[in-house]
Amino acid sequence: MFENILLAVDGSEGSKHAAKVAAGMARDHKGILRVVAAYEPIPPYLGEPNLHIVMEARIQEAKSVLDQILALIGKVPGEIHTEILEGDPAEAILRVAETRQSDLIVMGSRGLGQLAGMLLGSQSQKVVNHAPCPVLIVR
Ligand SMILES: Nc1ncnc2c1ncn2[C@@H]1O[C@H](COP(=O)(O)OP(=O)(O)O)[C@@H](O)[C@H]1O
Ligand SMILES: [Mg+2]
Repeated sequence: MFENILLAVDGSEGSKHAAKVAAGMARDHKGILRVVAAYEPIPPYLGEPNLHIVMEARIQEAKSVLDQILALIGKVPGEIHTEILEGDPAEAILRVAETRQSDLIVMGSRGLGQLAGMLLGSQSQKVVNHAPCPVLIVR
């Protein structure tokens, strides 16, 4: 049913769990599984060369998160695409879902921020509230 799945990951246990579910769905169809990791924008007041150093570190971190998740997903019959996004994670995820016309967004219920008492993380909450397509929150 879902052939253009957007999986958002931050490397947390929640997102690994979401990745396994998304991979299971992707194995049923020959569609697209798009895996994205976003990093927060770097404040421009840092100035060069710090700006560049911090940006490079964040991109490397996002790459290593994506590599870990790809290893978890393994082989699927369709295509796997990856994207590293800069910006507020929820806004970046929503933007990609729109431009890539995803038909499902998959994410974890919690991420790396472990605020006690919260059932749903802040990014999942924002995505659920504004998504242009169905959202699967995995817990
Ligand atoms: N920077 C990010 N890039 C991509 N996906 C993210 C990012 N941060 C969170 N997510 C997705 O949102 C889910 C919930 O995380 P989040 O809402 O940030 O909860 P928390 O407040 O516990 O960190 C994660 O499991 C992941 O699927
Ligand atoms: Mg978080």
